[in-house]
Amino acid sequence: RPRHVAYPLLNLTSSQLCVRGQQDSLKGQAVVVMRGGCDFGQKALVAQDLGASVLLIASIKNMLTPSVNNSVFSKMKIPLALVRHRDVLDGMEVRLYAPPVPPFDASIIVMLMLAVFTVTMVARHHRYSELSLYSPLKVLLFVAMMCVMLVLMYFFYRWLVYVIIVIFCLASASALYNCL
Ligand SMILES: *[C@@H]1O[C@H](CO)[C@@H](O)[C@H](O)[C@H]1NC(C)=O
Repeated sequence: RPRHVAYPLLNLTSSQLCVRGQQDSLKGQAVVVMRGGCDFGQKALVAQDLGASVLLIASIKNMLTPSVNNSVFSKMKIPLALVRHRDVLDGMEVRLYAPPVPPFDASIIVMLMLAVFTVTMVARHHRYSELSLYSPLKVLLFVAMMCVMLVLMYFFYRWLVYVIIVIFCLASASALYNCL
């Protein structure tokens, strides 16, 4: 299938497409149908039987990543996506695009080098200074603080995010001051 093909979208949101029914052939078309009535897999198989090229499912309720069971997945040849019902307009064109996933993510090497470099520099620095940062009590306190912080962030993220931004600014300023 050529990439970035734009399909004119056929609006079938008056139907849930759980059964073939009276529906004409959908040969080569992108169609959008209503969510509900049956699962995503059944709609996909019906749409595929009718010859559709792309199936969109319009959802009024929550959004999620659509999934189908394995027996349906092995038969599916057309892409399927969930869209918000209010985003569906008449006369739309749709394009589906999924970026290729590389088998190996090279950025992991850069991250590893950065981490090793940081730890090495910290270790060298500590050999010359008399600071002992790592007593067992301090480690325990640190872990306890992090746990409290995570729990607080889970419940009060909306407000705590500002606290974290402030802490980040203070820490950055102090680090810059130390460097200079
Ligand atoms: C998979 O989904 C299809 C379509 O809804 C359904 O007919 C079938 O029974 C399901 N298979 C299993 C093993 O659950």
